[in-house]
Amino acid sequence: MRHDACLKVLAIAMSLMPINSCTNLMPPPQPSVSQAPFGATPDGKTVSVYTLRNRNGMEARIITYGGVILSLKVPDRNGKPGDVVLGYDSLPAYLASSPYFGALIGRYGNRIARGRFTLDGRTYTLATNNGPNHLHGGLQGFDKVVWEAEPFTTPDSVGIIFRYTSTDGEEGYPGTLRAQVVYNLTNDNALMFDYTASTDKPTPVNLTQHSYFNLAGDGARDILGHVVRVNADRFTPVDSTLIPTGELRSVVGTPFDFRTAHAIGERIGRDDEQLRFGLGYDHNFVLNRTGVGRDLVLAAEVHEPTTGRVMEIFTTEPGLQFYSGNFLDGTLRGKGGVVYRQRYGFAMETQHFPDSPNQAAFPSTILRPGREYRSRTIYRFSVRP
Ligand code: GLA
Repeated sequence: MRHDACLKVLAIAMSLMPINSCTNLMPPPQPSVSQAPFGATPDGKTVSVYTLRNRNGMEARIITYGGVILSLKVPDRNGKPGDVVLGYDSLPAYLASSPYFGALIGRYGNRIARGRFTLDGRTYTLATNNGPNHLHGGLQGFDKVVWEAEPFTTPDSVGIIFRYTSTDGEEGYPGTLRAQVVYNLTNDNALMFDYTASTDKPTPVNLTQHSYFNLAGDGARDILGHVVRVNADRFTPVDSTLIPTGELRSVVGTPFDFRTAHAIGERIGRDDEQLRFGLGYDHNFVLNRTGVGRDLVLAAEVHEPTTGRVMEIFTTEPGLQFYSGNFLDGTLRGKGGVVYRQRYGFAMETQHFPDSPNQAAFPSTILRPGREYRSRTIYRFSVRP
């Protein structure tokens, strides 16, 4: 049928139908992005919120402060959207206290032992902001800075390019680091992160994203019934301060064997030294790879049986920190007044291994001038009957 004839049929059909049936005949919406103010930081930097929508019912709201994903609406098996990330409603709540809800993490995701490392013969001292150790880039990491943002749309996706330049010596790290993170919401319900960075002096870099997920929606109950698979034969056991011992330990016969699907809650209460140290799962898994390259691999899959939502995680990184929200303790009140209790959210942080600057046998996290840091992670959402 020719286009104008088609439109005529559509117009006649629509005139015969109750108003709310018309939407069924409408073409699917184009990917869109809109921007609105979201307040300002105490030092007067304005913060914006961007709302990204794809063609298939997904919506992400992201702010320029910390690149924080405020909300992520994903359809369940009945097509009903639900917000699958934890967070707050307003900027002051993020400024007051946030356990990295939804944020970009840098320069170094996870811990550096005792806040010290030696590089090319020189020792650098970083803030110890997590017991005796340095965590997630320090006192004012990439989660607490305002990023420059440039939105874009393509026929297949909608996204934001975030840029931040970290000055030489910031948080104790050497070199001026120019970081860029592209968030891309695709029409096939994937949220993709492309990280790049360059430096003018050798420096450790390990960027990641710290969203807390609860695929049941609205963070209203614990995540223990979520069923997880992790594509890892080994993990990096830790000491009591959560610094890797250096061993790559087989998961066989341990509660860390997620090579086949297990509910998070199934073995989390076992009498196991590693679970005691982490208060649950808070461990880096060594992702299985074939060959020597850094191709995208399926790192993990999480399935929430009551809603049917599934999240697959693909990454070019060698590791995955699976954190079962053990430090949430019911003192934080999140979106819509929901109290986030222990294990009401989990994180799947793709990364290089914790404390790599002090562990010569781990894959290197040192970026040198003239080289480009590159990393890609994809969270893809779908449903199961
Ligand atoms: C990471 C760490 C955890 C915890 C969270 C933030 O997942 O491994 O121990 O610090 O960040 O609360």
